[in-house]
Amino acid sequence: MSLVNFAFSNQIYKPPPRFGPYVFRANPYNQFSDRGGSSSSNMGIIIGAAVGAVVLLLLLTLAGVYALRQRKRADRATDQNNPFAKWNTSKSSIDAPQLMGAKAFTFEELKKCTENFSEANDVGGGGYGKVYRGILPSGQLIAIKRAQQGSLQGGLEFKTEIELLSRVHHKNVVRLLGFCFDRSEQMLVYEYIPNGSLRDSLSGKSGIRLDWTRRLKIALGSGKGLAYLHELADPPIIHRDIKSNNILLDENLTAKVADFGLSKIVGDPEKTHVTTQVKGTMGYLDPEYYMTNQLTEKSDVYGFGVVMLELLTGKSPIERGKYVVREVKTKMNKSRSLYDLQELMDTTIIASSSNLKGFEKYVDLALRCVEEEGVNRPSMGEVVKEIENIMQLAGLNPNVDSASSSRTYEEAIKGSGDPYGKDSFEYSGNFPASKLEPQ
Ligand SMILES: *[C@@H]1O[C@H](CO)[C@@H](O)[C@H](O)[C@H]1NC(C)=O
Ligand SMILES: *[C@@H]1O[C@H](CO)[C@@H](O)[C@H](O)[C@H]1NC(C)=O
Ligand SMILES: *[C@@H]1O[C@H](CO)[C@@H](O)[C@H](O)[C@H]1NC(C)=O
Ligand SMILES: *[C@@H]1O[C@H](CO)[C@@H](O)[C@H](O)[C@H]1NC(C)=O
Ligand SMILES: *[C@@H]1O[C@H](CO)[C@@H](O)[C@H](O)[C@H]1NC(C)=O
Repeated sequence: MSLVNFAFSNQIYKPPPRFGPYVFRANPYNQFSDRGGSSSSNMGIIIGAAVGAVVLLLLLTLAGVYALRQRKRADRATDQNNPFAKWNTSKSSIDAPQLMGAKAFTFEELKKCTENFSEANDVGGGGYGKVYRGILPSGQLIAIKRAQQGSLQGGLEFKTEIELLSRVHHKNVVRLLGFCFDRSEQMLVYEYIPNGSLRDSLSGKSGIRLDWTRRLKIALGSGKGLAYLHELADPPIIHRDIKSNNILLDENLTAKVADFGLSKIVGDPEKTHVTTQVKGTMGYLDPEYYMTNQLTEKSDVYGFGVVMLELLTGKSPIERGKYVVREVKTKMNKSRSLYDLQELMDTTIIASSSNLKGFEKYVDLALRCVEEEGVNRPSMGEVVKEIENIMQLAGLNPNVDSASSSRTYEEAIKGSGDPYGKDSFEYSGNFPASKLEPQ
């Protein structure tokens, strides 16, 4: 092109004589510019640009749709991890709870496994609401604690609570399996403990006969559970409502401390001052709590002492206006065998247990637990150690897990002079629990 340009501009090219002189006027070279050029190449450019734009637009739209879908999916995922998000207008204000093994159940799931929360599956309850039995699709039995409308907590409170409960793992503490925070419901899902409460067994309702050995093991188990809550759980948990109704027995009669859920978080001095509602149950209440309005670990120790005395008498702590703590204190005579308490003792103990070694130490311990002043009560750790000593005195191995591994009282009566002695205890290992319940 520049050669042609050069040839014309400098008049190097000599046209044939027929053409005469010429002037070369060079236009700008515009093959790819807007102006000039051939119309066909312009069309090409326009079509190319249009197609490009359309493709680009399509790609952008696709990318946009994809991004939106990803975001929706992510939102759904956070909703599942964090059912609390739904409960707040600003989504990020409550983080997903840090749960150790506890699962978030939907309302539908729990409805299904309790047959629409049917009466037949209603296994008890209290002021906070009802407890239902359910079966998960896996076949596992569960107990669902469903808060009623009046006793719902704030979302953040509920979250704090399940975080706390999900960190509790101990053989003698009922385990939290999950929760439901859906459709303005608050439910806690626990493992199901088949053989009812200690109260049921003591009252004869469950048909389980508790000889002295079993009672010692139940005291030890529940003591260990409580000591765990006080001393090893992080942060420490004060149960606030220790009573025989809240000590459950599994198929091997292992004691499990229950029902420290849906309780207000303690250790908040402002709240403790404001609240006038007494949490706890008459008969188990720490007398010091009335005066200071402050619940401490020692309040649980008091309740535990009452349960120990209840194991002894078999009766509710307050029956016909008589309070077990006062009754034992006034009736006992330390210079007599069994402290002269035979009259107060549950007849089942006397009928089924011929070896009551350590009985007096047991009474001493129980009475130390129900001292008027908290500082004079032992800690749960000390209580557990002392019960272990008592069991050793009675010739039992406190480290054998199940309370059902004692012999039945018939066997004990038939047996030689060493009922519940060390050797007889060993052979009595693993009976199926059902064989051990004479009705
Ligand atoms: C639960 O309720 C739904 C309707 O609300 C009903 O279709 C279903 O049969 C009920 N299931 C049971 C086990 O009662
Ligand atoms: C929602 O978030 C706000 C701000 O974080 C908080 O104060 C409020 O308690 C939350 N509401 C619920 C129901 O948890
Ligand atoms: C205790 O639990 C076992 C196992 O679930 C059961 O077979 C037994 O009948 C229960 N005993 C009572 C008295 O409920
Ligand atoms: C009860 O004891 C039996 C036999 O020792 C054991 O196999 C079973 O796992 C125990 N059950 C529970 C719930 O601990
Ligand atoms: C306690 O028992 C001893 C011996 O049997 C008796 O001497 C004493 O009077 C009894 N004490 C009371 C307060 O009953």
